[in-house]
Amino acid sequence: MVIKKICCIGAGYVGGPTCSVMALKCPDIEITVVDLSKERISQWNSNDKLPIYEPGLMEIVQKCRGRNLFFSNDIVSAIKKADLIFISVNTPTKTFGLGKGRAADLKYVEGAARMIAENAEGSKIVVEKSTVPVKAAESIMSILKANNKPNSSYRILSNPEFLAEGTAVEDLINADRVLIGGEESAEGQDAIRELSWVYEHWIPSSKIVTMNTWSSELSKLAANAFLAQRISSINALSAVCESTGADVSEVARAIGLDSRIGPKFLQASVGFGGSCFQKDILNLVYICECLNLPHVAAYWQQVIDMNEYQKTRFAEKVIASLFNTVTGKQIALLGFAFKKNTGDTRESPAIHVATHLLAEGAHLHIYDPKVEHSQIIDELNSSTLDPDKIKRNVIIHTDAYSAIKNTHALVICTEWDEFVSLDYEKIHSDMMKPAYIFDGRKILDHDYLQKLGFQVQTIGKRLNRDLGRSWGSQNHQS
Ligand code: NAD
Ligand code: UGA
Repeated sequence: MVIKKICCIGAGYVGGPTCSVMALKCPDIEITVVDLSKERISQWNSNDKLPIYEPGLMEIVQKCRGRNLFFSNDIVSAIKKADLIFISVNTPTKTFGLGKGRAADLKYVEGAARMIAENAEGSKIVVEKSTVPVKAAESIMSILKANNKPNSSYRILSNPEFLAEGTAVEDLINADRVLIGGEESAEGQDAIRELSWVYEHWIPSSKIVTMNTWSSELSKLAANAFLAQRISSINALSAVCESTGADVSEVARAIGLDSRIGPKFLQASVGFGGSCFQKDILNLVYICECLNLPHVAAYWQQVIDMNEYQKTRFAEKVIASLFNTVTGKQIALLGFAFKKNTGDTRESPAIHVATHLLAEGAHLHIYDPKVEHSQIIDELNSSTLDPDKIKRNVIIHTDAYSAIKNTHALVICTEWDEFVSLDYEKIHSDMMKPAYIFDGRKILDHDYLQKLGFQVQTIGKRLNRDLGRSWGSQNHQS
Protein backbone atom coordinates (compact mmCIF):
# COMPACT_ATOMS: atom_id res chain seq x y z
CA MET A 1 0.00 0.00 0.00
CA VAL A 2 1.24 3.49 -0.78
CA ILE A 3 0.07 6.05 1.75
CA LYS A 4 -1.96 8.72 -0.06
CA LYS A 5 -4.17 10.03 2.71
CA ILE A 6 -3.40 10.57 6.38
CA CYS A 7 -5.77 11.48 9.21
CA CYS A 8 -4.44 12.80 12.50
CA ILE A 9 -6.79 12.64 15.49
CA GLY A 10 -5.86 15.49 17.87
CA ALA A 11 -4.98 19.01 16.69
CA GLY A 12 -2.84 20.00 19.66
CA TYR A 13 0.82 20.86 20.24
CA VAL A 14 1.85 17.58 18.59
CA GLY A 15 -0.81 16.89 15.93
CA GLY A 16 -0.77 20.45 14.51
CA PRO A 17 2.99 21.02 14.04
CA THR A 18 3.77 17.39 13.11
CA CYS A 19 1.17 17.27 10.36
CA SER A 20 2.05 20.76 9.11
CA VAL A 21 5.69 19.78 8.61
CA MET A 22 4.64 16.43 7.12
CA ALA A 23 2.35 18.22 4.66
CA LEU A 24 5.16 20.60 3.73
CA LYS A 25 7.59 17.77 3.07
CA CYS A 26 5.10 15.35 1.46
CA PRO A 27 3.14 17.32 -1.15
CA ASP A 28 1.94 14.00 -2.63
CA ILE A 29 0.08 13.09 0.59
CA GLU A 30 -3.21 14.64 1.72
CA ILE A 31 -3.29 15.19 5.48
CA THR A 32 -6.39 16.01 7.51
CA VAL A 33 -6.01 16.97 11.16
CA VAL A 34 -9.21 16.49 13.12
CA ASP A 35 -10.31 17.42 16.62
CA LEU A 36 -13.44 17.37 18.76
CA SER A 37 -12.89 21.03 19.62
CA LYS A 38 -14.59 23.40 17.16
CA GLU A 39 -12.66 26.35 18.58
CA ARG A 40 -9.28 24.71 18.05
CA ILE A 41 -10.06 23.76 14.46
CA SER A 42 -11.34 27.25 13.62
CA GLN A 43 -8.12 28.71 15.06
CA TRP A 44 -6.05 26.33 12.91
CA ASN A 45 -8.02 27.64 9.94
CA SER A 46 -7.46 31.28 10.87
CA ASN A 47 -4.91 33.65 9.39
CA ASP A 48 -4.48 35.78 12.52
CA LYS A 49 -3.51 33.43 15.26
CA LEU A 50 -3.01 29.68 15.47
CA PRO A 51 -4.15 27.92 18.66
CA ILE A 52 -0.52 27.48 19.67
CA TYR A 53 2.46 29.80 19.31
CA GLU A 54 5.40 28.08 17.68
CA PRO A 55 8.10 29.96 15.74
CA GLY A 56 7.90 29.34 11.96
CA LEU A 57 4.63 27.39 12.14
CA MET A 58 2.26 30.00 10.70
CA GLU A 59 4.30 30.26 7.48
CA ILE A 60 4.17 26.48 6.96
CA VAL A 61 0.45 26.29 7.71
CA GLN A 62 -0.28 29.13 5.28
CA LYS A 63 1.75 27.42 2.58
CA CYS A 64 0.09 24.00 2.90
CA ARG A 65 -3.43 24.70 4.19
CA GLY A 66 -6.03 24.06 1.50
CA ARG A 67 -3.39 22.39 -0.71
CA ASN A 68 -2.63 19.09 1.07
CA LEU A 69 -3.26 20.12 4.67
CA PHE A 70 -6.76 20.38 6.13
CA PHE A 71 -8.09 21.05 9.62
CA SER A 72 -11.57 19.73 10.29
CA ASN A 73 -14.13 18.62 12.87
CA ASP A 74 -15.45 15.98 10.47
CA ILE A 75 -13.63 13.12 12.18
CA VAL A 76 -15.73 10.38 10.58
CA SER A 77 -14.97 11.32 6.95
CA ALA A 78 -11.28 11.82 7.68
CA ILE A 79 -11.05 8.35 9.27
CA LYS A 80 -12.96 6.71 6.43
CA LYS A 81 -10.74 8.02 3.66
CA ALA A 82 -7.35 7.71 5.40
CA ASP A 83 -4.80 4.97 4.70
CA LEU A 84 -2.95 5.83 7.90
CA ILE A 85 -4.32 7.36 11.12
CA PHE A 86 -2.19 9.05 13.77
CA ILE A 87 -3.58 9.14 17.30
CA SER A 88 -2.18 12.38 18.78
CA VAL A 89 -4.65 13.00 21.57
CA ASN A 90 -3.76 14.11 25.09
CA THR A 91 -2.75 11.54 27.72
CA PRO A 92 -2.87 13.53 30.98
CA THR A 93 -2.26 12.19 34.47
CA LYS A 94 -5.39 10.62 35.98
CA THR A 95 -7.09 12.94 38.44
CA PHE A 96 -9.32 10.33 40.11
CA GLY A 97 -9.77 6.60 40.59
CA LEU A 98 -7.13 3.91 40.43
CA GLY A 99 -3.69 5.39 39.77
CA LYS A 100 -4.93 8.93 40.55
CA GLY A 101 -2.10 11.47 40.36
CA ARG A 102 0.26 9.04 38.62
CA ALA A 103 -1.17 6.78 35.91
CA ALA A 104 -1.78 8.14 32.41
CA ASP A 105 -5.44 8.69 31.66
CA LEU A 106 -6.04 6.80 28.44
CA LYS A 107 -9.68 7.80 28.00
CA TYR A 108 -8.90 10.05 25.02
CA VAL A 109 -6.80 7.36 23.34
CA GLU A 110 -9.60 4.88 23.92
CA GLY A 111 -12.12 7.39 22.55
CA ALA A 112 -10.05 7.83 19.41
CA ALA A 113 -9.65 4.03 19.00
CA ARG A 114 -13.40 3.58 19.31
CA MET A 115 -14.06 6.24 16.69
CA ILE A 116 -11.69 4.43 14.33
CA ALA A 117 -13.32 1.08 15.06
CA GLU A 118 -16.80 2.49 14.38
CA ASN A 119 -15.95 4.25 11.16
CA ALA A 120 -12.95 2.70 9.42
CA GLU A 121 -13.38 0.57 6.33
CA GLY A 122 -10.69 -1.39 4.50
CA SER A 123 -7.08 -1.72 5.60
CA LYS A 124 -5.70 0.94 7.95
CA ILE A 125 -2.41 1.56 9.69
CA VAL A 126 -3.11 3.04 13.13
CA VAL A 127 -0.17 4.93 14.61
CA GLU A 128 0.16 5.72 18.30
CA LYS A 129 1.83 9.14 18.42
CA SER A 130 0.56 10.11 21.85
CA THR A 131 2.88 9.21 24.73
CA VAL A 132 1.39 6.10 26.33
CA PRO A 133 2.27 3.44 28.91
CA VAL A 134 4.08 0.33 27.68
CA LYS A 135 1.63 -2.10 26.09
CA ALA A 136 -0.99 0.54 25.27
CA ALA A 137 -0.91 -0.65 21.66
CA GLU A 138 -2.33 -3.95 22.91
CA SER A 139 -5.37 -2.16 24.37
CA ILE A 140 -5.90 -0.20 21.15
CA MET A 141 -5.74 -3.42 19.14
CA SER A 142 -8.26 -5.12 21.48
CA ILE A 143 -10.74 -2.27 20.90
CA LEU A 144 -10.23 -2.35 17.15
CA LYS A 145 -10.49 -6.14 16.93
CA ALA A 146 -13.55 -6.37 19.19
CA ASN A 147 -15.38 -3.99 16.86
CA ASN A 148 -13.92 -5.33 13.64
CA LYS A 149 -16.19 -4.92 10.66
CA PRO A 150 -16.00 -7.69 8.04
CA ASN A 151 -14.28 -5.43 5.52
CA SER A 152 -11.77 -3.77 7.84
CA SER A 153 -8.29 -4.72 9.06
CA TYR A 154 -5.69 -2.92 11.17
CA ARG A 155 -1.99 -2.81 11.80
CA ILE A 156 -0.75 -0.84 14.79
CA LEU A 157 2.51 1.04 15.08
CA SER A 158 4.11 3.08 17.82
CA ASN A 159 5.72 6.30 16.59
CA PRO A 160 6.35 8.53 19.60
CA GLU A 161 7.04 12.22 19.11
CA PHE A 162 10.18 13.90 20.44
CA LEU A 163 9.58 17.55 19.48
CA ALA A 164 10.05 20.19 22.16
CA GLU A 165 7.78 23.23 22.30
CA GLY A 166 9.31 26.47 21.09
CA THR A 167 11.55 24.56 18.67
CA ALA A 168 8.95 22.17 17.26
CA VAL A 169 9.38 23.11 13.60
CA GLU A 170 13.16 22.77 13.72
CA ASP A 171 12.89 19.52 15.74
CA LEU A 172 10.50 18.05 13.20
CA ILE A 173 12.46 19.11 10.14
CA ASN A 174 15.85 18.04 11.52
CA ALA A 175 14.81 15.26 13.88
CA ASP A 176 17.63 13.46 15.74
CA ARG A 177 15.74 10.28 15.01
CA VAL A 178 12.30 8.98 14.09
CA LEU A 179 11.26 5.96 16.12
CA ILE A 180 8.87 3.36 14.73
CA GLY A 181 7.84 0.31 16.70
CA GLY A 182 5.82 -2.51 15.21
CA GLU A 183 5.08 -6.20 15.31
CA GLU A 184 7.70 -8.64 14.10
CA SER A 185 5.18 -10.32 11.75
CA ALA A 186 5.45 -9.76 7.99
CA GLU A 187 2.37 -7.51 8.18
CA GLY A 188 3.91 -5.49 11.00
CA GLN A 189 7.16 -5.06 9.09
CA ASP A 190 5.22 -3.94 5.98
CA ALA A 191 3.46 -1.29 8.05
CA ILE A 192 6.80 -0.07 9.42
CA ARG A 193 8.11 0.23 5.85
CA GLU A 194 5.05 2.21 4.78
CA LEU A 195 5.34 4.73 7.62
CA SER A 196 9.12 4.93 7.08
CA TRP A 197 8.43 5.82 3.46
CA VAL A 198 6.41 8.85 4.61
CA TYR A 199 9.27 10.10 6.82
CA GLU A 200 11.88 9.37 4.15
CA HIS A 201 10.44 12.30 2.20
CA TRP A 202 12.74 14.40 4.41
CA ILE A 203 14.44 12.33 7.11
CA PRO A 204 17.53 10.32 6.07
CA SER A 205 16.76 6.59 6.41
CA SER A 206 19.77 6.21 8.73
CA LYS A 207 17.83 8.27 11.28
CA ILE A 208 14.69 6.15 11.11
CA VAL A 209 15.02 3.60 13.89
CA THR A 210 12.72 0.59 13.99
CA MET A 211 12.11 -1.80 16.87
CA ASN A 212 9.41 -3.79 18.61
CA THR A 213 6.32 -1.94 19.78
CA TRP A 214 6.98 -2.23 23.53
CA SER A 215 10.58 -0.97 23.20
CA SER A 216 9.32 2.01 21.22
CA GLU A 217 6.65 2.87 23.81
CA LEU A 218 9.13 2.55 26.68
CA SER A 219 11.84 4.53 24.83
CA LYS A 220 9.60 7.59 24.78
CA LEU A 221 9.05 7.50 28.54
CA ALA A 222 12.75 6.75 29.06
CA ALA A 223 13.87 9.72 26.90
CA ASN A 224 11.75 12.17 28.89
CA ALA A 225 12.84 10.60 32.19
CA PHE A 226 16.53 10.94 31.26
CA LEU A 227 16.13 14.56 30.12
CA ALA A 228 14.26 15.54 33.28
CA GLN A 229 16.77 13.64 35.40
CA ARG A 230 19.60 15.78 34.03
CA ILE A 231 17.74 18.94 35.02
CA SER A 232 17.01 17.64 38.49
CA SER A 233 20.65 16.57 38.86
CA ILE A 234 22.02 20.00 37.95
CA ASN A 235 19.34 21.68 40.08
CA ALA A 236 20.34 19.50 43.04
CA LEU A 237 23.93 20.69 42.54
CA SER A 238 22.72 24.29 42.30
CA ALA A 239 21.68 24.08 45.96
CA VAL A 240 25.16 22.83 46.85
CA CYS A 241 26.66 25.74 44.90
CA GLU A 242 24.57 28.32 46.73
CA SER A 243 25.72 26.92 50.05
CA THR A 244 29.40 26.66 49.18
CA GLY A 245 30.31 29.47 46.80
CA ALA A 246 30.72 27.18 43.76
CA ASP A 247 29.03 28.39 40.56
CA VAL A 248 26.64 25.90 38.93
CA SER A 249 27.31 27.29 35.42
CA GLU A 250 31.00 26.56 35.86
CA VAL A 251 30.22 23.09 37.17
CA ALA A 252 27.86 22.45 34.23
CA ARG A 253 30.52 23.60 31.78
CA ALA A 254 33.15 21.40 33.38
CA ILE A 255 31.06 18.24 33.36
CA GLY A 256 29.47 18.98 29.97
CA LEU A 257 32.89 18.97 28.31
CA ASP A 258 33.13 15.27 29.07
CA SER A 259 31.93 13.79 25.79
CA ARG A 260 30.21 10.98 27.72
CA ILE A 261 28.05 13.56 29.52
CA GLY A 262 27.67 16.28 26.86
CA PRO A 263 26.68 19.94 27.36
CA LYS A 264 22.93 19.93 26.68
CA PHE A 265 20.15 20.02 29.29
CA LEU A 266 22.45 21.13 32.08
CA GLN A 267 20.95 24.58 32.55
CA ALA A 268 20.05 24.96 36.22
CA SER A 269 16.71 26.73 36.63
CA VAL A 270 13.75 27.45 38.85
CA GLY A 271 12.62 23.93 37.87
CA PHE A 272 11.33 22.16 34.80
CA GLY A 273 7.75 22.55 33.63
CA GLY A 274 5.74 21.57 30.59
CA SER A 275 2.96 19.12 29.96
CA CYS A 276 5.09 16.02 29.71
CA PHE A 277 8.14 15.58 31.95
CA GLN A 278 6.20 15.27 35.18
CA LYS A 279 3.30 13.37 33.64
CA ASP A 280 5.53 10.86 31.84
CA ILE A 281 7.76 10.20 34.86
CA LEU A 282 4.70 9.74 37.08
CA ASN A 283 3.44 7.29 34.50
CA LEU A 284 6.78 5.43 34.57
CA VAL A 285 6.71 5.37 38.37
CA TYR A 286 3.19 3.93 38.30
CA ILE A 287 4.15 1.27 35.76
CA CYS A 288 7.12 0.26 37.98
CA GLU A 289 4.86 0.01 41.01
CA CYS A 290 2.40 -2.14 39.08
CA LEU A 291 5.28 -4.37 37.99
CA ASN A 292 6.28 -4.73 41.66
CA LEU A 293 9.53 -2.81 41.15
CA PRO A 294 9.34 -0.37 44.09
CA HIS A 295 13.05 0.49 44.04
CA VAL A 296 12.89 1.51 40.40
CA ALA A 297 9.72 3.50 41.08
CA ALA A 298 11.35 5.32 44.02
CA TYR A 299 14.42 6.11 41.91
CA TRP A 300 12.42 7.94 39.22
CA GLN A 301 10.09 9.57 41.75
CA GLN A 302 13.12 11.43 43.10
CA VAL A 303 13.45 13.34 39.80
CA ILE A 304 10.03 14.87 40.43
CA ASP A 305 10.61 15.37 44.16
CA MET A 306 13.83 17.28 43.41
CA ASN A 307 11.92 19.48 40.94
CA GLU A 308 9.28 20.32 43.56
CA TYR A 309 12.07 21.12 46.02
CA GLN A 310 13.75 23.44 43.52
CA LYS A 311 10.58 25.43 42.76
CA THR A 312 9.80 25.80 46.47
CA ARG A 313 13.43 26.63 47.30
CA PHE A 314 13.37 29.46 44.76
CA ALA A 315 10.08 30.91 46.04
CA GLU A 316 11.36 30.70 49.62
CA LYS A 317 14.58 32.41 48.60
CA VAL A 318 12.54 35.36 47.33
CA ILE A 319 10.68 35.60 50.62
CA ALA A 320 13.79 35.13 52.77
CA SER A 321 15.69 37.81 50.86
CA LEU A 322 12.82 40.28 51.17
CA PHE A 323 13.33 40.35 54.96
CA ASN A 324 11.29 37.17 55.47
CA THR A 325 8.00 38.73 54.48
CA VAL A 326 6.28 39.57 51.21
CA THR A 327 2.94 40.47 52.77
CA GLY A 328 1.64 43.57 51.01
CA LYS A 329 4.78 43.83 48.86
CA GLN A 330 4.58 44.53 45.13
CA ILE A 331 6.40 41.89 43.11
CA ALA A 332 6.80 41.78 39.32
CA LEU A 333 6.80 38.27 37.88
CA LEU A 334 8.26 38.17 34.38
CA GLY A 335 7.39 35.13 32.30
CA PHE A 336 4.54 32.72 32.86
CA ALA A 337 5.11 30.15 30.07
CA PHE A 338 7.02 27.00 31.06
CA LYS A 339 9.86 27.98 28.71
CA LYS A 340 10.53 30.68 26.12
CA ASN A 341 8.99 30.73 22.64
CA THR A 342 5.76 29.07 23.68
CA GLY A 343 2.48 30.28 25.12
CA ASP A 344 2.04 26.97 26.94
CA THR A 345 1.72 27.23 30.73
CA ARG A 346 1.08 23.59 31.60
CA GLU A 347 3.01 22.74 34.80
CA SER A 348 4.93 26.01 34.45
CA PRO A 349 7.22 26.69 37.43
CA ALA A 350 5.85 30.25 37.34
CA ILE A 351 2.52 28.90 38.64
CA HIS A 352 4.26 27.36 41.64
CA VAL A 353 6.25 30.51 42.40
CA ALA A 354 3.22 32.79 41.91
CA THR A 355 0.92 30.77 44.15
CA HIS A 356 3.60 30.50 46.83
CA LEU A 357 4.10 34.28 46.87
CA LEU A 358 0.37 34.98 46.77
CA ALA A 359 -0.21 32.62 49.69
CA GLU A 360 2.31 34.74 51.64
CA GLY A 361 0.31 37.89 50.86
CA ALA A 362 2.31 39.36 47.96
CA HIS A 363 0.74 41.53 45.25
CA LEU A 364 1.83 40.21 41.86
CA HIS A 365 2.30 42.10 38.60
CA ILE A 366 2.61 39.45 35.92
CA TYR A 367 3.81 39.86 32.35
CA ASP A 368 4.43 37.25 29.66
CA PRO A 369 4.80 38.15 25.97
CA LYS A 370 2.80 35.17 24.65
CA VAL A 371 0.47 33.90 27.34
CA GLU A 372 -3.14 35.10 27.22
CA HIS A 373 -4.20 37.04 30.33
CA SER A 374 -7.20 34.77 30.90
CA GLN A 375 -4.92 31.73 30.78
CA ILE A 376 -2.75 33.14 33.60
CA ILE A 377 -5.82 33.75 35.74
CA ASP A 378 -7.23 30.28 34.93
CA GLU A 379 -3.96 28.64 35.99
CA LEU A 380 -3.93 30.57 39.29
CA ASN A 381 -7.61 29.85 39.87
CA SER A 382 -7.00 26.13 39.55
CA SER A 383 -4.70 26.30 42.56
CA THR A 384 -6.01 26.03 46.13
CA LEU A 385 -5.88 29.84 46.55
CA ASP A 386 -9.03 31.81 47.24
CA PRO A 387 -10.20 33.27 43.86
CA ASP A 388 -11.02 36.58 45.60
CA LYS A 389 -7.44 36.86 46.78
CA ILE A 390 -6.26 36.28 43.21
CA LYS A 391 -8.65 38.95 41.94
CA ARG A 392 -7.44 41.44 44.56
CA ASN A 393 -3.71 40.71 44.43
CA VAL A 394 -2.90 39.95 40.79
CA ILE A 395 -2.58 42.41 37.94
CA ILE A 396 -1.65 41.17 34.46
CA HIS A 397 0.35 43.66 32.38
CA THR A 398 0.90 44.06 28.66
CA ASP A 399 4.54 45.10 28.93
CA ALA A 400 7.46 44.44 31.23
CA TYR A 401 8.07 48.08 32.24
CA SER A 402 4.56 48.64 33.49
CA ALA A 403 4.69 45.35 35.43
CA ILE A 404 7.94 46.36 37.13
CA LYS A 405 7.15 50.02 37.96
CA ASN A 406 6.99 50.70 41.73
CA THR A 407 7.65 47.10 42.73
CA HIS A 408 9.98 45.88 45.48
CA ALA A 409 11.26 42.91 43.51
CA LEU A 410 11.41 41.47 40.03
CA VAL A 411 11.27 37.69 39.63
CA ILE A 412 12.21 36.05 36.33
CA CYS A 413 10.46 32.74 35.77
CA THR A 414 10.81 32.29 31.98
CA GLU A 415 13.93 32.91 29.89
CA TRP A 416 12.30 35.11 27.20
CA ASP A 417 14.99 36.91 25.14
CA GLU A 418 13.26 40.27 25.59
CA PHE A 419 13.93 40.16 29.36
CA VAL A 420 17.68 40.20 28.68
CA SER A 421 17.59 43.43 26.71
CA LEU A 422 15.33 45.49 29.01
CA ASP A 423 16.68 48.87 30.16
CA TYR A 424 17.69 47.91 33.68
CA GLU A 425 18.94 51.39 34.50
CA LYS A 426 15.43 52.76 33.94
CA ILE A 427 13.94 49.78 35.76
CA HIS A 428 16.16 50.44 38.79
CA SER A 429 15.06 54.05 38.98
CA ASP A 430 11.39 52.97 38.68
CA MET A 431 11.53 50.40 41.50
CA MET A 432 11.27 50.72 45.29
CA LYS A 433 14.59 50.53 47.10
CA PRO A 434 16.38 48.34 47.84
CA ALA A 435 15.47 46.92 44.43
CA TYR A 436 15.70 43.14 44.14
CA ILE A 437 16.08 40.88 41.13
CA PHE A 438 15.61 37.11 41.39
CA ASP A 439 16.82 35.53 38.20
CA GLY A 440 15.27 32.06 38.11
CA ARG A 441 16.67 31.39 34.64
CA LYS A 442 20.22 32.73 34.91
CA ILE A 443 19.80 34.93 31.85
CA LEU A 444 20.87 38.36 33.14
CA ASP A 445 24.26 40.03 33.59
CA HIS A 446 24.43 39.90 37.37
CA ASP A 447 27.65 41.93 37.74
CA TYR A 448 26.15 44.76 35.68
CA LEU A 449 22.91 44.69 37.69
CA GLN A 450 24.80 44.82 40.96
CA LYS A 451 26.76 47.82 39.66
CA LEU A 452 23.43 49.53 38.95
CA GLY A 453 22.54 49.02 42.61
CA PHE A 454 20.27 45.97 42.43
CA GLN A 455 20.31 43.25 45.06
CA VAL A 456 20.58 40.16 42.86
CA GLN A 457 19.85 36.53 43.62
CA THR A 458 20.02 33.69 41.17
CA ILE A 459 20.14 29.92 40.96
CA GLY A 460 23.34 28.06 41.79
CA LYS A 461 25.55 31.05 42.54
CA ARG A 462 25.91 33.08 45.69
CA LEU A 463 25.69 36.83 45.05
CA ASN A 464 25.21 39.68 47.57
CA ARG A 465 27.21 37.71 50.12
CA ASP A 466 26.25 39.78 53.13
CA LEU A 467 22.53 39.78 52.48
CA GLY A 468 22.66 36.12 51.56
CA ARG A 469 24.18 35.31 54.93
CA SER A 470 21.90 37.39 57.11
CA TRP A 471 18.57 36.72 55.40
CA GLY A 472 18.81 34.22 52.56
CA SER A 473 20.57 31.37 54.24
CA GLN A 474 18.09 30.49 56.97
CA ASN A 475 15.13 29.34 54.96
CA HIS A 476 16.47 27.73 51.86
CA GLN A 477 18.87 25.51 53.69
CA SER A 478 16.08 23.95 55.69
P1 NAD B 1 -3.08 18.73 23.42
O1 NAD B 1 -3.91 18.68 24.62
O2 NAD B 1 -2.45 20.00 22.98
O3 NAD B 1 -3.92 18.20 22.14
C1 NAD B 1 -4.68 17.04 22.17
C2 NAD B 1 -5.93 17.28 21.32
O4 NAD B 1 -6.63 16.04 21.17
C3 NAD B 1 -6.93 18.26 21.95
O5 NAD B 1 -7.14 19.34 21.05
C4 NAD B 1 -8.21 17.43 22.15
O6 NAD B 1 -9.39 18.17 21.91
C5 NAD B 1 -8.03 16.36 21.10
N1 NAD B 1 -8.80 15.14 21.33
C6 NAD B 1 -8.90 14.40 22.46
N2 NAD B 1 -9.68 13.31 22.23
C7 NAD B 1 -10.08 13.37 20.94
C8 NAD B 1 -10.87 12.55 20.11
N3 NAD B 1 -11.40 11.39 20.55
N4 NAD B 1 -11.09 12.93 18.82
C9 NAD B 1 -10.55 14.08 18.35
N5 NAD B 1 -9.76 14.90 19.08
C10 NAD B 1 -9.54 14.55 20.36
O7 NAD B 1 -1.96 17.59 23.62
P2 NAD B 1 -0.47 17.59 23.02
O8 NAD B 1 0.41 18.47 23.83
O9 NAD B 1 -0.55 17.76 21.53
O10 NAD B 1 -0.04 16.10 23.37
C11 NAD B 1 -0.59 14.99 22.66
C12 NAD B 1 0.21 13.75 23.02
O11 NAD B 1 1.57 13.89 22.55
C13 NAD B 1 0.35 13.48 24.52
O12 NAD B 1 0.34 12.09 24.72
C14 NAD B 1 1.71 14.05 24.88
O13 NAD B 1 2.29 13.38 25.97
C15 NAD B 1 2.51 13.76 23.63
N6 NAD B 1 3.63 14.70 23.36
C16 NAD B 1 3.47 16.05 23.56
C17 NAD B 1 4.50 16.91 23.25
C18 NAD B 1 4.37 18.40 23.46
O14 NAD B 1 5.35 19.09 23.24
N7 NAD B 1 3.25 18.92 23.87
C19 NAD B 1 5.68 16.40 22.71
C20 NAD B 1 5.80 15.03 22.49
C21 NAD B 1 4.76 14.18 22.82
C1 UGA C 1 10.25 17.82 26.27
C2 UGA C 1 11.35 17.05 25.53
O1 UGA C 1 12.50 17.88 25.37
C3 UGA C 1 10.86 16.60 24.16
O2 UGA C 1 11.85 15.78 23.53
C4 UGA C 1 9.57 15.78 24.33
O3 UGA C 1 9.06 15.40 23.06
C5 UGA C 1 8.54 16.62 25.07
O4 UGA C 1 9.08 17.02 26.35
C6 UGA C 1 7.28 15.87 25.35
O5 UGA C 1 7.28 14.65 25.41
O6 UGA C 1 6.31 16.59 25.57
P1 UGA C 1 9.30 20.30 26.21
O7 UGA C 1 8.70 19.94 27.51
O8 UGA C 1 8.44 20.91 25.18
O9 UGA C 1 9.98 19.01 25.54
O10 UGA C 1 10.51 21.33 26.45
P2 UGA C 1 12.00 21.17 27.02
O11 UGA C 1 12.88 21.98 26.18
O12 UGA C 1 12.37 19.76 27.21
O13 UGA C 1 11.90 21.89 28.43
C7 UGA C 1 11.17 21.31 29.50
C8 UGA C 1 11.41 22.11 30.76
O14 UGA C 1 12.74 21.93 31.24
C9 UGA C 1 11.23 23.62 30.57
O15 UGA C 1 10.59 24.17 31.70
C10 UGA C 1 12.66 24.12 30.47
O16 UGA C 1 12.80 25.46 30.83
C11 UGA C 1 13.35 23.19 31.45
N1 UGA C 1 14.81 23.05 31.20
C12 UGA C 1 15.25 22.53 30.04
C13 UGA C 1 15.71 23.41 32.20
O17 UGA C 1 15.30 23.87 33.28
N2 UGA C 1 17.05 23.24 31.97
C14 UGA C 1 17.53 22.72 30.81
O18 UGA C 1 18.77 22.59 30.68
C15 UGA C 1 16.61 22.36 29.82
